[in-house]
Amino acid sequence: MGVKISASVLNADLSELGAEVGRVCAAGADMLHIDVMDGIFVPPMTIGDVVVKALRNKNKDFTFDTHLMVSEPERVIPFFAEAGSDFISVHVESNADIKKSLEKIRSLGCKSGLAVNPPTHVEKLFPYIEYVDMFIIMSVNPGYGGQAFIPQSLDKIAALRKELDNRGSNAAIEVDGGINPNTAPEVIKSGADILVAGSYLFNSPDMKEAVLRLKQSREII
Ligand code: DX5
Ligand code: ZN
Repeated sequence: MGVKISASVLNADLSELGAEVGRVCAAGADMLHIDVMDGIFVPPMTIGDVVVKALRNKNKDFTFDTHLMVSEPERVIPFFAEAGSDFISVHVESNADIKKSLEKIRSLGCKSGLAVNPPTHVEKLFPYIEYVDMFIIMSVNPGYGGQAFIPQSLDKIAALRKELDNRGSNAAIEVDGGINPNTAPEVIKSGADILVAGSYLFNSPDMKEAVLRLKQSREII
């Protein structure tokens, strides 16, 4: 199975958000990556559940991949589930009870995600494997699009892939930050299943072509 692309709209023209979501859908992205920031876990404040709900009303079939960069995710998980998220991911560095949050996400009918920041050891994820449908390895420090990929992330992806295989887990590995045609091949080789791409897609003159280039990265390894 090929790699999937989750398009991050953080670097889209947010004054035209509806049209931008339509554009990534038409370009063949598999998922919409929604970066939710609370101004505490990371400095910016971005998109809330009300906006996610409005986008969902216009995009019934697109997979919504909600990435909560918030310090107290437990409180808001139900709002983002109700808004129509398919995946909801919390950060292992947040103040939440991680196991409880992941169970809550699943109990609301969504897929559970667990994200890890660049400075945090990947082993911190291991105790939660059975509660997780998708891991997010952050390959930039969270908060902003358009940053350079941190090469040390490759070892974390490989270590997680090995642990998932050893434990017989089907959880997916998503990699978030600094993905472009130069970084994608190594990321896929290390074991990623889903690539988040933001600025690369939105800076490309032809977004359809850009999605295809990322998807075909596997073939040039
Ligand atoms: C960073 C966000 C990422 C980011 C990816 O805090 O979680 O999803 O928007 O953007 P690029 O692809 O530009 O690194
Ligand atoms: Zn993200």
